[in-house]
Amino acid sequence: MKLKIAVLPGDGIGPEIIEQALNVTKAICEKFGHEIEYTYGICGAAAIDKVGNPYPDDTHQICMESDAVLFGAVGDPRFDNDPSAKVRPEQGLLAMRKKLGLYANIRPVTTFPCLIHKSPLRADLIEGADFMCIRELTGGMYFGRPQGRSEDGNTAYDTCVYTREEIERIVTLAYEYAMKRRKKVTIVDKANVLATSRLWREVAKEIAPKYPEVETEFMFVDNAAMRMIQWPKDFDVMVTENMFGDILTDEGSVITGSMGMLPSASIGTYTSVFEPIHGSWPQAAGQNIANPLATILSAAMMFDYAFSLKAEAKLIRDAVDASMDQMVRTGDIQEAGNKNYSTSEVGEWIVDFIKKN
Ligand SMILES: NC(=O)c1ccc[n+]([C@@H]2O[C@H](COP(=O)([O-])OP(=O)(O)OC[C@H]3O[C@@H](n4cnc5c(N)ncnc54)[C@H](O)[C@@H]3O)[C@@H](O)[C@H]2O)c1
Repeated sequence: MKLKIAVLPGDGIGPEIIEQALNVTKAICEKFGHEIEYTYGICGAAAIDKVGNPYPDDTHQICMESDAVLFGAVGDPRFDNDPSAKVRPEQGLLAMRKKLGLYANIRPVTTFPCLIHKSPLRADLIEGADFMCIRELTGGMYFGRPQGRSEDGNTAYDTCVYTREEIERIVTLAYEYAMKRRKKVTIVDKANVLATSRLWREVAKEIAPKYPEVETEFMFVDNAAMRMIQWPKDFDVMVTENMFGDILTDEGSVITGSMGMLPSASIGTYTSVFEPIHGSWPQAAGQNIANPLATILSAAMMFDYAFSLKAEAKLIRDAVDASMDQMVRTGDIQEAGNKNYSTSEVGEWIVDFIKKN
């Protein structure tokens, strides 16, 4: 099979973690006899510095011509600490989501047995937790207009907008995934207060009867925030709107134990993007200390979701598990008394495992 991939390292630790994920991708292609063609694109602060645009047209073109996009992270303190900056790296992220039609962000929340004790939550609560958060990515408050300030600057407003089509598309996706899993969908909203949430419920109630085998549960977002850490094992597929999903998925990362472990996939109309859930961790940039596993596991999701190459995805996951079992870990997940491996050492160990197994 020929795999055409766009590679967008971005800012901060992005280039370091992407390098490892790309090496793993190349090793898998070599092992399974796939041809890989990859093209680099700039985005985020790196692209603002070069061309004044965080998601340049050239980069968009590269993505549009690819079957999948491997993405690092964007963000730079120069912009974070300057509220008056007119162009910001994160605008590139939003532009990419909108232009590629990335309507669903999928984040698996699972536990790694050897990291359970790293979670701030009690082991008996989280052991065996395995659910999928599906966050709507192109609608809601982050995109709704009008947005702005009154003339005197003392009032600010955002607008939350959802169309029936946007809700149908993502809720259907949730039911499709649930059919392949434990057949339960939890729709998270705030239907007691928000009009958009009431439309979500209305649409979900129309879709649910098409999947009679799937149990449907409606849950208010405040309750969901609590239940996620109290009874994470109760969830199978959770689907929610953009801002609620933004917050809940970070909460979900706590269950796993480290930000450096969680991959994600953003499913799009034109192509799909695979990226770690963490940001560009600028303080660690260039130090070769960031955990590359979230990005390497995102590459596994790419093989799974973009190319339907299950054995390839599984070998990456097995290699990641093996590296952790062998204590080949970066500092964020290492046990006291063991060496903290560097980003590149972990990546090289995983490549080596793939070659040998
Ligand atoms: N998708 C994205 O590109 C994305 C997402 C979130 C934040 N950001 C941007 O990233 C910048 C930094 O934001 P932040 O500090 O809030 O979030 P962050 O995820 O970059 O870092 C938060 C903390 O998580 C840990 N962490 C993150 N990645 C790790 C890794 N690979 N290995 C080990 N530990 C890791 C570190 O302890 C770090 O201090 C900001 O500019 C922000 O806007 C980008």
